Amino acid sequence: MTETSTNGTVTYDVIDRIAWVRFNRPDKRNCMSPTLNRDMMEVLDLLEFRDDVGVLVLSGEGTAWSAGMDLKEYFRDTEAKGLGATRAVQREAYGWWRRLRWYQKATIAMVNGWCFGGGYGPLFACDLAFAADEAQFGLSEINWGILPGGGATKVAVELLPFRKAMYHAMMGENVDGKTAAEWGLVNESLPLDQLKARVTEVANVLLKKNPVALKATKDAVRRVGVLSYDDAEDYLIRAQEAANSYDNEGRKEGIRQFIDDKSFKPGLGAYDRSKQKA
Ligand code: COA
Repeated sequence: MTETSTNGTVTYDVIDRIAWVRFNRPDKRNCMSPTLNRDMMEVLDLLEFRDDVGVLVLSGEGTAWSAGMDLKEYFRDTEAKGLGATRAVQREAYGWWRRLRWYQKATIAMVNGWCFGGGYGPLFACDLAFAADEAQFGLSEINWGILPGGGATKVAVELLPFRKAMYHAMMGENVDGKTAAEWGLVNESLPLDQLKARVTEVANVLLKKNPVALKATKDAVRRVGVLSYDDAEDYLIRAQEAANSYDNEGRKEGIRQFIDDKSFKPGLGAYDRSKQKA
C-alpha cells in the first residue's frame, strides 16, 4: 500500500524488501521545496532501520526525477525572510542528502526524467544510479544566474573528468541518460520502460549480500577517496574489524560454504545467508 509523508510531497511503498521512495510534486517537476526536504527526512527516518527494508530506491512521480531546488519556495520566498531562514532551509536540504550518503541500507537513484542542479545532491548521495535514456541531466544554475551550489559543483567534480565538469557547469546544456552513463553520472542508462525492471534486478542482488558487509563497503568507497594510501589501509583494517564486531559469523559462514561445503564460489555470487546459524 502506498504511504504518504505528512505533507504529501513524498510517497513510498515497501515491496519485497525494496523501499520505493518517490519525490511527489509531479506538477512542479518534483523540485525540492523546504516542505519536501522536511518530508523526505521524515521518510528516510521511518525506513532506515526497518527490518523489512534492505534497499531504498529513490525516483520521482511523473515526468521528473527532480527539477532541483524550488526557485520560489526554497530561494525567493526564503531569502525574503533573511539569512536565518536561508540557513535553516539549507540545513534541511543538505541534512537529508547527507543522511542518504551514509544511509544504513543500500540506495539506488532511479532517474526517470529531469534531473537538475540541486538534484545532483541526492543523485550523488545514492550509492548507485540508473537512468532512463530519456532522462535529462543539467547544471542549469548558470542559466538563471547562480553558481551550481548546494554541493552540485562538488558532485560534478567527483563524478566527471575536469573538462567535462567545467563544460557541464559553464554551458548549462543538458545531457540525456545515455551520455550521463558514458560520463559516469550514473551507472547505466536504458529505455524508460525497462528501467524499473533493471533496478529491481540490481536491488535483488544487493538483498542477497551480507548487510553488515554492504554498509561497511559503501562507506569505505566514499571514505577512502580523500585518504592517502596508508590512511586508507588503516581505515579499512579498522572498518573490517568493526564490521566483525557486528557480524562475526557471516564471513565465517561464507568461508565454510566455499572451502568445506563447496556449495558456492565467492567469485560467482553471494553465499547462502539462510544457512547461517543464529
Ligand atoms: N522551481 C520552482 N518551480 C519549478 C521548478 C523549480 N526548479 N521546476 C519546475 N517548476 C514549476 C514551474 O514553474 C511550473 O509551475 P506552474 O505549473 O505553476 O506554472 C511547473 O513546475 C511545471 O514546469 P514547466 O516548466 O511548465 O514544465 P516543463 O515540463 O515544460 O519543463 C523543466 C520542465 C524541468 C525543463 C522546467 O520546469 C525547468 O527548467 N525547471 C527549472 C529547472 C532548474 O533550473 N532547476 C535548478 C534549480 S537549482
